[in-house]
Order: sequence, then structure tokens, then C-alpha cells
Amino acid sequence: MNYAATLQDARERDAADPLHAFRARFALPRDERGAPVVYLSGHSLGLAPLAARELLLQELDEWSRLAVQGHEHGRRPWVPYHENLTAGLAALTGARPGEVIAMNSLTVNLHLMLASFYRPAGKRTKILIESGAFSSDRHAVASQIAWHGLDPGTHLMELAPRAGEDTVAHSAIEACLAEHGEQIALVLWPGVQFRTGQSFDLARIARATHARGCVSGFDLAHSIGNTPLSLHDSGADFAVWCSYKYLNGGPGAIGGCFIPERHAQAQSRTQHSGGVPGARLAGWWGHELQSRFLMEPQFRAADGASAWQISNPPILSATPLIASLAIFAEAGLSRLRAKSVALTDFMDALVRRLEPQVHILTPRASSERGCQLSIRIAGGTQRGRAVFDALLARGVVCDWRTPDIIRVAPVPLYNRFEDVAQFAQTLSEILGQSA
Ligand SMILES: Cc1ncc(COP(=O)(O)O)c(C=O)c1O
Repeated sequence: MNYAATLQDARERDAADPLHAFRARFALPRDERGAPVVYLSGHSLGLAPLAARELLLQELDEWSRLAVQGHEHGRRPWVPYHENLTAGLAALTGARPGEVIAMNSLTVNLHLMLASFYRPAGKRTKILIESGAFSSDRHAVASQIAWHGLDPGTHLMELAPRAGEDTVAHSAIEACLAEHGEQIALVLWPGVQFRTGQSFDLARIARATHARGCVSGFDLAHSIGNTPLSLHDSGADFAVWCSYKYLNGGPGAIGGCFIPERHAQAQSRTQHSGGVPGARLAGWWGHELQSRFLMEPQFRAADGASAWQISNPPILSATPLIASLAIFAEAGLSRLRAKSVALTDFMDALVRRLEPQVHILTPRASSERGCQLSIRIAGGTQRGRAVFDALLARGVVCDWRTPDIIRVAPVPLYNRFEDVAQFAQTLSEILGQSA
């Protein structure tokens, strides 16, 4: 394989890339010897925006200088702090500003959404998820089923890919709903499946779900900041996400939720039960701002998704996200998506040159994937793991998902075509040595 030509090609693509300069806005990780690594793990933890440090230092200064007064008199007052994130999150998710809220973390938000939207009744009691779902999602839905006094063994349905297929066809989801829909209360589906990298058509799934009378929720952990989203138009009943992957919000960063206007408006403002979609677990931060600090016993909900807030937000885990969302706004979603498709197609083509030593599980069509590729190495788990370890040892940071998958993601904000070429060359060398 002529990698000199590939590298040359990659460098020309980088030189022509209108987003090339954004790489310099991020801290680029190095190995223990101080050498730069090829970072392809933005699907797991996004890189630190350099501006995050400055913003965090400002918050620490305000805390030192103003202490409690910072809640109202800081440069970015802490009481309405989540509002610094609203426009950016709404833009990334295709939602109206009142439909998104930054709060808590992903699994906590999932529980809060299930508390509102999973209302098993009569014959309609089950939750449908994809088989091989992220463990935390599975734990959350199984425990919610049990919380309602039901047996997760019979009430949790898991849909696997058809025999011989790596990913779940939309038609298989529709067929499952057609067959079992009357027993299903809620469908929780990923926007992008974490293990395979398959991206789903949310509107199509929500349509099929609603046609059978079920509620449609989405986990967008691997979608937000990665694939285009139109949550408002999708019909989804709720969505949740974390901000430490493609959103570059930092480890354990504040998560987020989408709740469409129609549900927020239908929800009673003063009671915790009754109406559609049902109960909402409440805390003082979901109380309307005007009267929140009167500390009255009666709960009066804030407008829209912000009524689902419970606690005051973790300011220091929200600050880096402000820096990152500003970069997204500047780069522009359509330009980012165009570069993402080009980067991932480039990677796909280079990795396919190594077939049959490798097999890409992720769908080939860009409409069915974001930037992640999930790769299985021929020869079994042990060889796959050895190849992954060798990649890491040579400064290529990707990740391993049991049982046998290497995940790599060229992220358009900071990865270069050159990173992709270097990854392919390193993989090819390792495969040559371990054949
Ligand atoms: C799909 C998915 N669900 C849930 C989680 C768990 O997130 P958290 O620990 O923020 O609740 C993750 C974390 O990577 C994830 O990728």
C-alpha cells in the first residue's frame, strides 16, 4: 500500500479544509513522552476547548470575589446559568429553545424522563430497546420496570439485528412494533448506537412508535454534536444526552434533555400528577423563577423543559460547554457535517483496503452513520484486542468495546485527514505484523 501518496492526499484535503483552523482551538493530547497522539476518541471524551480554561478561571474568580453574590451579580449569574447553554443546544438538536434544558447527567435524566413518560397500564406495559444497548440505559429501564412492580424479565423487550446482519434495519423496528406494539408502553432508541455507530432516523422511529400508541424516547449520547438532528419536527416524546463526547463539555459534564412543547404545555403547572404525560418529579429549580425564592410549599412549574430541572446546576461542569457551544456556532453545523462525512468516508475507504483482515460494522451510507466507525479484526477477540493494544502503543487513541470492536471517530472540529491517514497506515502495519 502506498501510504506516501495517501498522506500527500490527506494533506491536500487538510489544506483545502475550511474548518482546518478550529483544531488549534482545542488542547491536543500527548503521550507520556510528550509526543502528539492521533486522537480518534471524541465519541468517548471530546477534547478540551482552550477557551474553557479561561471561562472556568472566571467562575473561580467570581466565586472567590463575590461568593454568594455570584448567584445574581456575576458576569454570568449562576441562578439562570443554564440559559447560557440553551441557544447552542437548541441549534444542535433542532429544537425550540424552550424544549431543551441542560441539567444533571445522562442516566439521571433518563430516569427523570422515564418517570414522566413510562406509564405502564393495562396490557401496555413493556419497554422496547435495542439488544446490546449501553449498560446504563438497560439498567435504567430494567429498574424502572421493577419500580412499577413489574418483572424486567418479561417486560423489557430487546430487538437484535436480523440473523447475519450487524445493525438493526428500520423495517425490523417497524415490524416489531406492528407485531407487539399493543403491549409496548415506550420505545427507547439510540440516535447513534454506541457499539455499531449506526445512526437512526428518529422521525421514522417516532412515527412507527406513535402509530402503535407507544411513547418514543431517544438517547442521543452519540448523536448530539455528531449527526444533524431535528428534534422538534421528529415527533419524539423526549430525548436525553451527555455533553462529554462530541460536545466537548469535559469529563462528567452537565447533561441535557429535550421535552417537546406539546408535553410541557399539557403538563399541569401546579400539580405533580394527572394530565399528559403524567407525573413529573420536581425540585425547586423547576419552579418558575419569579416565585422560586419565596420558598412556598406549592410547586409552580417554570415554562417548558426547564420545569424538569430539580437541583441548581453544577456551574463548574457547565462552564466548558459554554466555550464549546460557541465554537460549534462559529464553525456552523452544515460545514461540520460536510467535513464529517468527508473524513469518515476517507477513513472508510482506507480501512476497506485492509479487508478481509478487517470488517466495518457501521453502515456505509453517510445517512446511516455519524463519524464513528466500528471495526472488527479477523481472527477473533484475542487478535482484535492485540491490534487495539498495538494501536494505543503507537500513539493512536481509539477505544475497545467488548466483545471485539475497535471504535474510531474522526471528529470534524479537531481531526485532520492526516490523522485518518496515519491511523490507516498504523493499522495496516500492525495487521501485517500480526498476520
Ligand atoms: C449511550 C450511553 N448511555 C448512557 C451512558 C452513561 O452516561 P452517564 O454516566 O453520563 O449517565 C453513556 C456514556 O457513555 C452512553 O454512551
